Amino acid sequence: MPEGFLFANSIHAPMTTENDLTARERVSSDVQSEVASPHGRFYVFEGIDGAGKSTVAGKVFEILKAGTDREIVLTSEPSDSWLGDCVRRSHREGVSTISEALLFVADRAHHTERIRKWLEDGMIVLSDRYYASTLAYQGAALKPLLGGMAVPWLKSINEPAIIRPDMTFLLLIPPETGMKRLSERNERTKFEKLGFLREVDKIYRDLAEEDETFVVIDASRSIEEVTGTIVEAMKGNI
Ligand code: ADP
Ligand code: TYD
Repeated sequence: MPEGFLFANSIHAPMTTENDLTARERVSSDVQSEVASPHGRFYVFEGIDGAGKSTVAGKVFEILKAGTDREIVLTSEPSDSWLGDCVRRSHREGVSTISEALLFVADRAHHTERIRKWLEDGMIVLSDRYYASTLAYQGAALKPLLGGMAVPWLKSINEPAIIRPDMTFLLLIPPETGMKRLSERNERTKFEKLGFLREVDKIYRDLAEEDETFVVIDASRSIEEVTGTIVEAMKGNI
């Protein structure tokens, strides 16, 4: 891999850790809510399971890598930190939906500190999932418990834990297509059920209406077409 390009989930040495941050940085990152990317660029890939996020994020990473001298980070949530491990463990062992939502946000708050540092260093950060995943998935999961309060509550607890992305690419496919694509994949997450993914899809679509960082992408097209549309949308914003 050329020097300067990082796969956040596979190369650990250049990444920031909590210890790299000064006390002032830690305090400011704790209280800061939505701030624009300080110097770098921050792009997020969202969508239901099977939409093609991981595939397309990887291809966009390769295209950007070949076309720019800037350092690029490809990262994802749940993250590769011990907090991300807690999220994965909670999936395996089962916790209440409230606990699960709080675990996703705890993992994100920590991930955001790392993203902030990459952006301050002028890097282009690509993240496979970010806070909209919690609004959509936990919004759907918490609906039976909290009704219409689910998404507003999730927004409020995410607020101090996030940086506003420059663009959020929402990859839309019919949930049936997502299920079909996933049936060819061995691993399944507990969220991959048609009725549930329909609810998640609905919340994503609502978010896209109200959040101007969202760029809606028709992800039922070929991988090449989806990738090309996203790279084109990034032009002028890099
Ligand atoms: P996600 O990260 O959104 O869950 P993946 O990128 O893992 O989705 O893709 C799920 C499956 O669908 C993979 O087998 C992948 O090769 C396939 N896939 C992804 N995008 C497309 C596409 N545009 N058309 C057809 N198959 C796709
Ligand atoms: P992920 O490993 O990204 O799965 P996939 O590659 O299929 O997209 O995420 C695992 C599951 O966790 C996925 O079903 C989505 C879910 N998830 C949430 O429910 N809330 C969140 O905040 C995040 C980041 C993921």
